[in-house]
Amino acid sequence: MIAHHSGCRHRARVAVLGCGVVGSEVVRQVLARGDELGLEVARVLVRDPHRPREVPRELLTADAEEVFAAAPDVVVEAIGGVEPAGRLVERALRAGIAVVSANKTLLAHRGPALRRLSGASGAPLACEAAVGSAVPVLAALRQLAGDRVLSLRAVVNGTCNFILTRMESGLGMDAALREAQERGLAEADPSADLSGRDSAEKLCILGSAAGLAELTPDAVPTRGIEGVCPDDLAEARRAGRCLRLVAELEAGVPGLFARVGPALVPRAHPLASLHGEENGVLLRCELAGDLFLRGPGAGPRPTASAILGDVLRVLGRARAERGEGRRSATSPVRDQRIRVRGPRASCPARMLGALRERALEPLDLTLTRHGSTLGVRSRDGCAVALGVALATEGGESLVTPVLE
Ligand code: HSE
Repeated sequence: MIAHHSGCRHRARVAVLGCGVVGSEVVRQVLARGDELGLEVARVLVRDPHRPREVPRELLTADAEEVFAAAPDVVVEAIGGVEPAGRLVERALRAGIAVVSANKTLLAHRGPALRRLSGASGAPLACEAAVGSAVPVLAALRQLAGDRVLSLRAVVNGTCNFILTRMESGLGMDAALREAQERGLAEADPSADLSGRDSAEKLCILGSAAGLAELTPDAVPTRGIEGVCPDDLAEARRAGRCLRLVAELEAGVPGLFARVGPALVPRAHPLASLHGEENGVLLRCELAGDLFLRGPGAGPRPTASAILGDVLRVLGRARAERGEGRRSATSPVRDQRIRVRGPRASCPARMLGALRERALEPLDLTLTRHGSTLGVRSRDGCAVALGVALATEGGESLVTPVLE
């Protein structure tokens, strides 16, 4: 059970609607990091408060009246589906309470109406977590407001990408889906993932945020990956391609092209490089050219990251204002590997000597030889110190940190 500290007056109060994989992760993070985030849990709305959970019993309620009576500053909606989530989101917005929603189904079907309500009441509505989970694609589209997005091509369903890449390594679809479910990637009803419906919903949200189109999912021709078999993947491989579930939207002349379906993507294409539950969005913009955003696209922790970012944003709190948990940038200590190329590479003892002669004694320096690669644990900056020492010794040595 996670400790629950309440009553800290400067913390903003967060009500969480729904306590499935995403809602419970948000509650867990707020309970564990309340001081750092400046947040506390007001109430958590669940269907059955008696079911055992890792959340203090006194926070749970099945009664929406109790949630609103707890006077939350922000409502996080993680129920999913159009109703009852829609009614609760509307009620919060009408009451002037900021809403953060991870619910792509609700936003794809009722996004424009909810945004109008948010505009009229002045209560913000944020939904970064609804598309791409931790990948800040809606934030990127906000920043591109001065540009013109011409098209987007995206992998926006983590479950399908996970399944396709697991099938590429020889696993069957059913086993890959089970694994995705165990990792908390798939929807409660995974047919929403497999059929492409989840991707179509996200495409509608992206289209609207990109200023390309106001679409509803039924207007997007959609095919899923249910029919994909190992032979399809083998054939794609033989053709030097990968099979990905791609969502596309392009402003054409005339009209608009929108589609969700499996596509054969050349191996060198950015979307082919997405593995497991990763999502990626390729934006073609008139001024900026091509931008590619990628990262964890599903799962409780990445989704909680996006939700908490939205919560702090709607509360008007930037990271710098939170003030806690910041570290100094002086003399950080970390493991660093460096590679030395040149005559000194063959002799670690001489390199250590060269450093010590110049009183460059990094903390806890150990050199282990492996070809011309040396493992070092030292203060950050040792590579620079070593480079300086070797350069003044004469000879041509190149010291480079090896990024992992
Ligand atoms: N089931 C969704 C997916 C969760 O796999 O992408 C994130 O929206």
